Amino acid sequence: VLGLNACSASSGATAPSEPADVANAQSAGSQAGTPGAAGIGDPDFPMDGNGGYDVDHYALKLAYDPPSKKLSGTTSIDAKAVQNLSRFNLDLHDFTVRGVRVDGGAARFTRDGDELTVIPPSVIAKGTTFTVVVDYAGKPDPVRNSSNLGTYGFIPTKDGAFVTSEPNGAKTWFPCNDHPADKATYEFDVTVPAGITVIANGEMRGAPVTRGGSTDFRWREDHPMATYLATITLGKFQVKTGESPGGIPVYAATDPAFRHDLDFLYTTSATVTDYWSKIFGPYPFSSTGGVIDDFSTGYALENQTKPMYGGFEPDQSIIAHELAHQWFGDSLSIARWKDLWLNEGFATYAEWLWTEHKGGPSVEKTFQDYYAAKSAPIWKYPPGVAQRQDLFNNSVYIRGGMTLHVLRKRIGDDAFFTLLRTWTDQHKYGSVTTEEFVKLAEKVAGKPLGDLFDPWLFKPTRPASAV
Ligand code: ARG
Ligand code: ZN
Repeated sequence: VLGLNACSASSGATAPSEPADVANAQSAGSQAGTPGAAGIGDPDFPMDGNGGYDVDHYALKLAYDPPSKKLSGTTSIDAKAVQNLSRFNLDLHDFTVRGVRVDGGAARFTRDGDELTVIPPSVIAKGTTFTVVVDYAGKPDPVRNSSNLGTYGFIPTKDGAFVTSEPNGAKTWFPCNDHPADKATYEFDVTVPAGITVIANGEMRGAPVTRGGSTDFRWREDHPMATYLATITLGKFQVKTGESPGGIPVYAATDPAFRHDLDFLYTTSATVTDYWSKIFGPYPFSSTGGVIDDFSTGYALENQTKPMYGGFEPDQSIIAHELAHQWFGDSLSIARWKDLWLNEGFATYAEWLWTEHKGGPSVEKTFQDYYAAKSAPIWKYPPGVAQRQDLFNNSVYIRGGMTLHVLRKRIGDDAFFTLLRTWTDQHKYGSVTTEEFVKLAEKVAGKPLGDLFDPWLFKPTRPASAV
């Protein structure tokens, strides 16, 4: 589902666009088609995602063999053409593509870097839904050390794989429209050697089935999800399931190295999810949980319904952060990466709220401590425009969170928490921009707030006023 007006409107402008495809126009008879753009239109990541169509659903049927590190299977994509399409791209990193079919018919395809171009037998008319099936196999090659992002994507581990893809690592394990502006529902059908557990988003569809030395796990996520939040993390895990006191199903899992953290992870995830449901509005998904694996990424990721903790024992505030993302980032997804403070600033503010709730330092104290550090690097980096080279800068987190606190002090607690709940309600499962948040804040406050947002989000200096 393509939730983004600004982005789709500009998709032709930033990514290379091509003239009408004459060959396919002729083969289609009356109808001329145009190639879909090679990028979805995010100026900072011009090749991420693709134009010309809108994905509705991904069905992944995969097998992974940890000893040989081989992944193979098919990805089936239901999509809708948003232009007359002579050809279109998917994002896919490496792998051998064994065949592509569009609506059951064999399609030609070409590869160029991480762009897989599919040439359907005939032009797909604007507004038509179609299914593309890609049959592929190979050893996943995660993204490594691209500037300061660390390793992400499908990461092989000793006993399986740790799968966390922000910002654009989904293409290291399935062909997709790899940008959060195009959200879709998912089903996962993954076969692994017996003894290995597969953990994907959403809920399991039936108990795993073991036959002939392998086990088949089936999961589905019925709520729209950004590609980078999809996971099939797998390996040896202890699992604990149940229901939160508030009635939300919980799935927690730990690698054997973190077995002693399973109860803590389970209980904290359940309690935090219930608490945020009161503060941010009803929990948007059908289950909650968390996974600790033994691969050290140095970060956690808010994978939808299943936050992942990479090789460390999460404390309460990190769990509170990742679960706040279920509202801010997962249900409401950013339409372009420069608005990342809408995810990270909000999740960081949630950490401070949780700390205060548990009897630790007040949010005001946390804010004042950061504000007092006059020469901190965050003042040079305006959080409202996350930079491609340094997407996850501290400022996007801390100064983003501080912006919310200044806003809260300006408009008062009632208006502030009403604003948060209105925001999550109005844009549930959708795509959002900073402009939309500012507009809603001004509406709820009943007054212009430019003099607050301008210095806090957009200026490379420490704001003179903290109210
Ligand atoms: N969204 C994650 C968090 O705030 C950070 C992900 C960082 N991604 C990366 N490739 N380093 O917890
Ligand atoms: Zn975060």
